[in-house]
Amino acid sequence: MKKEVLEIIGGQCLNGKTSVYSAKNAVLPMLAGAMLTKDEVTIKDCPFITDIDNMFKIREILSVNTIWQGRDIVASGAVQNNHIPEALANVMRSSIFMLGPLLVEVGDVKLHLPGGCKIGARPIDIHLDGLEKLGAKIEVLDNSVRCHADRLRGAEIVLRYPSVGATENLISASVKAVGETTLIGVAREPEVVSFCEMLNAMGAKIKGAGTSVIKIAGVDELHGAIIKPVTDRIVAGTIILATALTGGCVEIEHCEINHLGALVTKLISPKIQIASSLDGIVVESTGDIDSFNVSSGPYPKFPTDLQPIVTAVLCQGAGNCVVEEKVFENRFLYANELKKMGAEIVTSKDNLMVGCSSLKGANVVASDLRGGAGLVVAGLKAEGKTIVEGVQYIDRGYENIEKIFSNLGAKILRKSI
Ligand code: UD1
Repeated sequence: MKKEVLEIIGGQCLNGKTSVYSAKNAVLPMLAGAMLTKDEVTIKDCPFITDIDNMFKIREILSVNTIWQGRDIVASGAVQNNHIPEALANVMRSSIFMLGPLLVEVGDVKLHLPGGCKIGARPIDIHLDGLEKLGAKIEVLDNSVRCHADRLRGAEIVLRYPSVGATENLISASVKAVGETTLIGVAREPEVVSFCEMLNAMGAKIKGAGTSVIKIAGVDELHGAIIKPVTDRIVAGTIILATALTGGCVEIEHCEINHLGALVTKLISPKIQIASSLDGIVVESTGDIDSFNVSSGPYPKFPTDLQPIVTAVLCQGAGNCVVEEKVFENRFLYANELKKMGAEIVTSKDNLMVGCSSLKGANVVASDLRGGAGLVVAGLKAEGKTIVEGVQYIDRGYENIEKIFSNLGAKILRKSI
């Protein structure tokens, strides 16, 4: 059977203008949250990526309508079903976002324990503990979970860790609960703020989004709305890192420099300038990377989703450094592939010791979304030809990654082999 690969000839500088769409990590929970009303919810300017296609399939199983209108997604209809089958839950961790809205709308949910990227165990205890505090009865079976509730009741819930998905799920579960809910120790990611903005536009009463305490006054009904989600800081960060590495000057339109503070402060040097433009970010680089240490963490710390991509850059930097992963376990699978390109990396449980090297093109295999993007970025600078397999992982979160970079002057093609 034929498979798609990306073929990259490294060594071209990136130059020109590009733009980013609404963030995958905002649109996915929104496609779940939209089920809290039967009215039409329009989500503007979305990317054509397979994670969103899969969310369409999950919504279809739940008998709600989802259509593309140009780049906008229009969601509508009352939920008719309460069971997300194993096949879909396995390909997508975001099926977990359905738990809160389904519990509110149907009162009884059966969900196979979700899959997604191969980056660690990814338990859902914080989701389930919170739902239980709101009054849900939870039964954990071998590889699925069953939740039941008549009407949820507001409560005070302390999250043991600021999980993005659990924060969004508990917000969904609380917006129509009886009384007031206080969520303490929540995630502060821009995508969480965007999600709350959507629910408030639908009539919810949520305060404190972007801080670590969110207060929600339950309402009886939500209604339709038109939403412009926050744009994708991880795609923007990937382009910034690629430009820093290859050298050149790129303007990324429609993105917010403040959402990338942890990356920008690390990268800026006499050789790399990053500044905000009228409606985005401009990055200009000589292609020389000064090494720095990185430690990922919940927002506003360095995003775990950029960890593989920054490593791809740092291993072609000027000195030794350490990359620590503090959010997920097992997020270094890509490092072995970088080593095939000549990277000097010593891997331990939660950190990488990265030495400086000049990478050479090689055949490498992506085994998760961001690790795959890291391999592409490494290939843009490496000498000679890099072939990246496992493109289906990259397509989960980047719309035509080869077009993003070829439009900026890179030699990168998608091929069927
Ligand atoms: C979201 C993002 C993902 C990003 C991650 C961290 C989406 C669709 N995905 O994933 O791109 O990498 O945030 O910024 O928005 N955890 C528990 N118990 C739980 C829930 C989480 O132990 O009940 C742990 C996870 O195993 C992980 C850490 O908390 O180690 C962070 O997970 P979480 O913030 O929930 O990530 P996601 O929402 O899955």
